[in-house]
Amino acid sequence: MEIISDFQDMQGRVRQWRGQGLKVVLVPTMGYFHPGHVSLMAYGRTIGERLVVSLFVNPAQFGPQEDLQRYPRDLDRDGRLAQEVGVDVLYTPEAGAMYPPGYQTYVEVGSLAQGLCGASRPGHFRGVATVVLKLLHQVEPRVAVFGEKDYQQLMVVKQMVADLDVPTEIIGRPIVREPDGLAMSSRNSYLNPEERAAALCLYRALLGARELVLSGAKRRDNILEAVRQMINSTPGTRIDHVSLVDPVTLQEVEAIDGEARLLLAVWINTTRLIDNTLLSESRLCCV
Ligand code: PAJ
Repeated sequence: MEIISDFQDMQGRVRQWRGQGLKVVLVPTMGYFHPGHVSLMAYGRTIGERLVVSLFVNPAQFGPQEDLQRYPRDLDRDGRLAQEVGVDVLYTPEAGAMYPPGYQTYVEVGSLAQGLCGASRPGHFRGVATVVLKLLHQVEPRVAVFGEKDYQQLMVVKQMVADLDVPTEIIGRPIVREPDGLAMSSRNSYLNPEERAAALCLYRALLGARELVLSGAKRRDNILEAVRQMINSTPGTRIDHVSLVDPVTLQEVEAIDGEARLLLAVWINTTRLIDNTLLSESRLCCV
């Protein structure tokens, strides 16, 4: 596995591969790999002939009061994990090269990026869309793979790629969870044992909502009220948002008609965690 930091070296490598007709797949990440990241890489490996994983803690998507400085980093461990999965290039651009002095162009996606996490993290999706577009230009992959864990991010990226005619297919992959159900996240490393136990309330609330829907509940008010109660009954938690939305437009729905997506963002003391699931009237769906 090669580690490349320079953008021109990266572009040179992928142009060489494409000249040989090889299908290049990109998995964008901010590092501190866990099995969720690894699942995207392993999938990328199966669908492409060359696999690039970008590792860049993107300052543009963190608000001024957010955790950019303390975001966990471990390049040595990440390098070993990436190598084990069969990554061809770990692409680690420098912040100063991505956003040199005088940088002033940003990508703003419309309504999809406004509500939900966009409402509580102003500017977040502008930073995400900007860095993802830059990475797609730099690596020019045929396919880029994202996790459904960040469901709104996935939809924002799909919209941006469609609107700006980027010739990359965007594929979303299922959420990978700890054995007890907590969605894997680099930010789980912030949790002490008590908070780790409290964090399970997100998954329990998703499961509870699924049961409720399978037993016939349809109305948003009823479902969200039950979800809020399940979370609020756990000490040390504070709801950022709970929303029941159309899986494509991310607009709030009044009631479930077929399928809807339940999206949660919850503070566990000072750590903000997100999770989501598809809610379906049919039993043939999974978390
Ligand atoms: P990061 O949080 O490192 O996540 C990288 C990719 O891994 C994202 O597509 C995310 O949805 C996916 N992922 C995270 N946890 C997952 C889990 N438990 N199961 C499945 N997939 C999971 O998301 C970002 O980085 C950044 O915003 C980025 C897209 C790289 C732009 O900076």
